[in-house]
Amino acid sequence: MRYAIDQMTMPDVPRVVEIERLAYPSTWPPSAYRKELQDNRWAHYIVLRDTHLMEEYAVTPQQELEKPRKNRLFPLSLLPSRPAITMSSPELNSIIGFAGLWLMLDEAHITTIAMHPDYRRQGLGEFMLTGLIDIAYDIGAKWVTLEVRMSNYIAQNLYHKYGFREAGIRHRYYSDNQEDALIMWTEEINTPSYKHKFQGLKNALLKKLEVQ
Ligand SMILES: CC(C)(COP(=O)(O)OP(=O)(O)OC[C@H]1O[C@@H](n2cnc3c(N)ncnc32)[C@H](O)[C@@H]1OP(=O)(O)O)[C@@H](O)C(=O)NCCC(=O)NCCS
Repeated sequence: MRYAIDQMTMPDVPRVVEIERLAYPSTWPPSAYRKELQDNRWAHYIVLRDTHLMEEYAVTPQQELEKPRKNRLFPLSLLPSRPAITMSSPELNSIIGFAGLWLMLDEAHITTIAMHPDYRRQGLGEFMLTGLIDIAYDIGAKWVTLEVRMSNYIAQNLYHKYGFREAGIRHRYYSDNQEDALIMWTEEINTPSYKHKFQGLKNALLKKLEVQ
Protein backbone atom coordinates (compact mmCIF):
# COMPACT_ATOMS: atom_id res chain seq x y z
CA MET A 1 0.00 0.00 0.00
CA ARG A 2 1.07 3.57 -0.70
CA TYR A 3 0.81 4.67 2.98
CA ALA A 4 2.79 3.26 5.88
CA ILE A 5 2.68 3.76 9.63
CA ASP A 6 6.04 3.80 11.44
CA GLN A 7 7.06 4.36 15.01
CA MET A 8 8.10 8.01 15.48
CA THR A 9 11.83 8.45 16.07
CA MET A 10 13.95 11.46 17.06
CA PRO A 11 14.96 12.43 13.50
CA ASP A 12 11.24 12.70 12.63
CA VAL A 13 10.62 15.48 15.19
CA PRO A 14 11.38 18.56 12.99
CA ARG A 15 8.88 17.40 10.35
CA VAL A 16 6.31 16.47 13.01
CA VAL A 17 6.62 19.98 14.48
CA GLU A 18 6.17 21.46 11.00
CA ILE A 19 2.90 19.53 10.50
CA GLU A 20 1.77 20.32 14.04
CA ARG A 21 2.11 24.07 13.33
CA LEU A 22 -0.17 23.65 10.30
CA ALA A 23 -2.70 21.58 12.22
CA TYR A 24 -3.13 23.16 15.66
CA PRO A 25 -3.69 26.71 16.94
CA SER A 26 -1.07 26.16 19.63
CA THR A 27 1.80 23.72 19.63
CA TRP A 28 4.16 21.79 21.88
CA PRO A 29 7.81 22.88 21.96
CA PRO A 30 9.98 20.44 19.93
CA SER A 31 11.67 19.46 23.22
CA ALA A 32 8.32 18.00 24.39
CA TYR A 33 8.38 15.42 21.57
CA ARG A 34 12.00 14.57 22.29
CA LYS A 35 11.15 14.10 25.96
CA GLU A 36 8.15 11.94 25.09
CA LEU A 37 10.23 9.71 22.81
CA GLN A 38 13.21 9.44 25.14
CA ASP A 39 11.81 9.49 28.65
CA ASN A 40 8.16 8.45 28.63
CA ARG A 41 7.97 4.67 28.54
CA TRP A 42 4.16 4.84 28.50
CA ALA A 43 4.07 6.96 25.35
CA HIS A 44 3.62 5.55 21.83
CA TYR A 45 3.98 7.87 18.84
CA ILE A 46 3.58 7.08 15.16
CA VAL A 47 4.19 8.85 11.86
CA LEU A 48 2.33 8.26 8.61
CA ARG A 49 4.43 8.17 5.44
CA ASP A 50 3.49 8.55 1.80
CA THR A 51 5.88 6.10 0.10
CA HIS A 52 5.37 7.86 -3.24
CA LEU A 53 7.00 10.94 -1.72
CA MET A 54 9.92 8.83 -0.57
CA GLU A 55 10.49 7.74 -4.17
CA GLU A 56 10.04 11.31 -5.44
CA TYR A 57 12.65 12.71 -3.06
CA ALA A 58 15.03 9.78 -3.26
CA VAL A 59 18.50 10.66 -4.54
CA THR A 60 19.95 8.26 -7.11
CA PRO A 61 23.52 6.97 -6.56
CA GLN A 62 24.61 9.11 -9.55
CA GLN A 63 23.04 12.27 -8.03
CA GLU A 64 24.70 11.44 -4.72
CA LEU A 65 28.10 11.26 -6.48
CA GLU A 66 27.50 14.54 -8.25
CA LYS A 67 26.62 16.40 -5.05
CA PRO A 68 29.28 19.03 -4.19
CA ARG A 69 31.43 17.87 -1.26
CA LYS A 70 31.92 20.74 1.15
CA ASN A 71 34.32 21.08 4.07
CA ARG A 72 35.59 17.53 3.87
CA LEU A 73 39.27 17.15 4.48
CA PHE A 74 41.44 14.53 2.84
CA PRO A 75 41.30 11.55 3.37
CA LEU A 76 37.64 11.77 4.50
CA SER A 77 36.72 13.30 1.14
CA LEU A 78 37.48 9.94 -0.47
CA LEU A 79 34.80 8.22 1.57
CA PRO A 80 31.21 8.16 0.40
CA SER A 81 29.18 10.60 2.45
CA ARG A 82 26.93 9.16 5.15
CA PRO A 83 23.21 9.38 4.29
CA ALA A 84 22.40 11.87 7.04
CA ILE A 85 18.72 12.50 7.76
CA THR A 86 18.38 16.20 7.02
CA MET A 87 15.22 18.26 6.58
CA SER A 88 15.34 17.46 2.86
CA SER A 89 15.82 13.70 3.23
CA PRO A 90 13.22 11.38 1.63
CA GLU A 91 12.43 9.86 5.04
CA LEU A 92 11.47 13.21 6.54
CA ASN A 93 9.67 14.61 3.53
CA SER A 94 7.52 11.52 3.29
CA ILE A 95 5.90 12.16 6.70
CA ILE A 96 2.36 13.49 6.19
CA GLY A 97 0.79 12.92 9.60
CA PHE A 98 1.48 11.84 13.14
CA ALA A 99 -0.35 10.68 16.26
CA GLY A 100 0.29 9.39 19.73
CA LEU A 101 -1.10 7.98 22.94
CA TRP A 102 -0.14 7.25 26.53
CA LEU A 103 -1.02 4.12 28.41
CA MET A 104 -2.31 4.98 31.90
CA LEU A 105 -3.20 1.82 33.80
CA ASP A 106 -5.56 0.12 31.36
CA GLU A 107 -6.59 3.30 29.52
CA ALA A 108 -5.04 4.50 26.27
CA HIS A 109 -5.15 8.32 26.17
CA ILE A 110 -4.82 9.74 22.68
CA THR A 111 -2.66 12.85 23.08
CA THR A 112 -2.49 14.04 19.48
CA ILE A 113 -3.50 13.17 15.92
CA ALA A 114 -2.84 15.45 12.97
CA MET A 115 -2.73 15.22 9.18
CA HIS A 116 -0.91 17.63 6.90
CA PRO A 117 -3.67 19.86 5.40
CA ASP A 118 -2.82 18.75 1.83
CA TYR A 119 -3.65 15.13 2.70
CA ARG A 120 -6.93 15.47 4.52
CA ARG A 121 -10.30 13.88 3.61
CA GLN A 122 -8.73 10.77 2.10
CA GLY A 123 -9.15 8.42 5.04
CA LEU A 124 -5.63 8.95 6.32
CA GLY A 125 -6.48 10.51 9.70
CA GLU A 126 -8.77 7.53 10.13
CA PHE A 127 -5.90 5.21 9.16
CA MET A 128 -3.77 6.73 11.93
CA LEU A 129 -6.62 6.34 14.42
CA THR A 130 -6.86 2.64 13.54
CA GLY A 131 -3.08 2.47 14.07
CA LEU A 132 -3.50 3.95 17.56
CA ILE A 133 -6.35 1.57 18.44
CA ASP A 134 -4.19 -1.34 17.24
CA ILE A 135 -1.45 -0.11 19.61
CA ALA A 136 -4.05 0.13 22.40
CA TYR A 137 -4.84 -3.57 21.83
CA ASP A 138 -1.15 -4.49 21.70
CA ILE A 139 -0.32 -2.79 25.00
CA GLY A 140 -3.30 -4.25 26.83
CA ALA A 141 -5.51 -1.16 27.14
CA LYS A 142 -9.18 -1.74 27.83
CA TRP A 143 -10.52 1.68 26.86
CA VAL A 144 -9.41 4.52 24.61
CA THR A 145 -10.08 8.11 25.65
CA LEU A 146 -9.20 11.65 24.56
CA GLU A 147 -10.02 15.32 24.87
CA VAL A 148 -11.15 17.33 21.87
CA ARG A 149 -12.07 21.01 21.46
CA MET A 150 -15.82 21.62 21.64
CA SER A 151 -15.58 23.40 18.26
CA ASN A 152 -13.65 20.59 16.53
CA TYR A 153 -16.57 18.83 14.85
CA ILE A 154 -14.33 17.25 12.23
CA ALA A 155 -12.30 15.33 14.79
CA GLN A 156 -15.42 14.54 16.81
CA ASN A 157 -17.00 12.99 13.69
CA LEU A 158 -13.94 10.80 13.24
CA TYR A 159 -14.08 9.67 16.88
CA HIS A 160 -17.85 9.03 16.75
CA LYS A 161 -17.25 6.81 13.74
CA TYR A 162 -14.97 4.64 15.92
CA GLY A 163 -17.42 4.39 18.79
CA PHE A 164 -16.17 7.22 21.02
CA ARG A 165 -18.94 8.80 23.10
CA GLU A 166 -19.07 12.07 25.08
CA ALA A 167 -18.41 11.50 28.77
CA GLY A 168 -17.93 14.99 30.19
CA ILE A 169 -16.42 18.43 29.74
CA ARG A 170 -13.16 19.94 30.99
CA HIS A 171 -13.87 23.63 31.36
CA ARG A 172 -11.36 26.11 29.92
CA TYR A 173 -9.02 23.22 29.11
CA TYR A 174 -7.22 24.95 26.22
CA SER A 175 -5.06 27.82 27.43
CA ASP A 176 -4.84 29.65 24.06
CA ASN A 177 -8.56 30.58 23.96
CA GLN A 178 -9.96 29.08 27.18
CA GLU A 179 -12.06 26.68 25.11
CA ASP A 180 -13.73 23.74 26.83
CA ALA A 181 -12.69 20.18 26.01
CA LEU A 182 -15.09 17.38 25.37
CA ILE A 183 -13.96 14.13 27.02
CA MET A 184 -14.67 11.08 24.87
CA TRP A 185 -14.37 7.36 25.61
CA THR A 186 -14.80 4.16 23.69
CA GLU A 187 -16.63 1.25 25.21
CA GLU A 188 -14.42 -1.63 26.39
CA ILE A 189 -12.39 -2.39 23.26
CA ASN A 190 -12.13 -6.11 23.98
CA THR A 191 -15.87 -6.73 23.82
CA PRO A 192 -16.87 -8.82 20.79
CA SER A 193 -19.16 -5.98 19.64
CA TYR A 194 -16.38 -3.34 19.64
CA LYS A 195 -13.87 -5.73 18.04
CA HIS A 196 -16.39 -6.53 15.31
CA LYS A 197 -17.15 -2.86 14.67
CA PHE A 198 -13.44 -1.91 14.65
CA GLN A 199 -12.45 -4.74 12.30
CA GLY A 200 -15.31 -3.92 9.92
CA LEU A 201 -14.37 -0.23 9.73
CA LYS A 202 -10.68 -1.01 9.38
CA ASN A 203 -11.20 -3.56 6.59
CA ALA A 204 -13.39 -1.11 4.65
CA LEU A 205 -10.77 1.62 5.10
CA LEU A 206 -7.87 -0.59 3.98
CA LYS A 207 -9.83 -1.54 0.86
CA LYS A 208 -10.43 2.16 0.10
CA LEU A 209 -6.76 3.09 0.68
CA GLU A 210 -5.46 0.20 -1.42
CA VAL A 211 -7.00 1.65 -4.58
CA GLN A 212 -5.50 5.12 -4.04
C1 LIG B 1 -8.91 15.35 12.50
C2 LIG B 1 -8.02 14.98 11.30
C3 LIG B 1 -6.81 14.19 11.82
C4 LIG B 1 -8.84 14.11 10.34
O1 LIG B 1 -7.97 13.70 9.30
P1 LIG B 1 -8.46 13.40 7.79
O2 LIG B 1 -7.40 12.58 7.17
O3 LIG B 1 -8.86 14.63 7.10
O4 LIG B 1 -9.78 12.54 8.08
P2 LIG B 1 -10.29 11.31 7.22
O5 LIG B 1 -10.28 11.65 5.78
O6 LIG B 1 -9.57 10.08 7.65
O7 LIG B 1 -11.82 11.22 7.69
C5 LIG B 1 -12.24 10.29 8.66
C6 LIG B 1 -13.54 10.75 9.27
O8 LIG B 1 -13.37 12.02 9.91
C7 LIG B 1 -14.54 12.83 9.71
N1 LIG B 1 -14.19 13.97 8.87
C8 LIG B 1 -13.00 14.21 8.27
N2 LIG B 1 -13.03 15.40 7.63
C9 LIG B 1 -14.26 15.92 7.82
C10 LIG B 1 -14.90 17.12 7.41
N3 LIG B 1 -14.25 18.03 6.65
N4 LIG B 1 -16.17 17.35 7.80
C11 LIG B 1 -16.84 16.46 8.57
N5 LIG B 1 -16.28 15.28 8.99
C12 LIG B 1 -15.01 15.01 8.62
C13 LIG B 1 -15.56 11.94 9.00
O9 LIG B 1 -16.26 11.23 10.01
C14 LIG B 1 -14.64 10.98 8.25
O10 LIG B 1 -15.26 9.76 7.95
P3 LIG B 1 -16.02 9.61 6.51
O11 LIG B 1 -14.92 9.72 5.49
O12 LIG B 1 -16.59 8.24 6.59
O13 LIG B 1 -17.00 10.74 6.42
C15 LIG B 1 -7.56 16.26 10.53
O14 LIG B 1 -8.71 17.03 10.20
C16 LIG B 1 -6.58 17.13 11.29
O15 LIG B 1 -5.38 16.91 11.26
N6 LIG B 1 -7.10 18.18 11.98
C17 LIG B 1 -6.26 19.12 12.72
C18 LIG B 1 -5.73 18.52 14.00
C19 LIG B 1 -6.85 18.08 14.91
O16 LIG B 1 -7.83 18.78 15.09
N7 LIG B 1 -6.67 16.90 15.53
C20 LIG B 1 -7.62 16.35 16.48
C21 LIG B 1 -7.24 16.76 17.84
S1 LIG B 1 -8.35 16.11 19.06
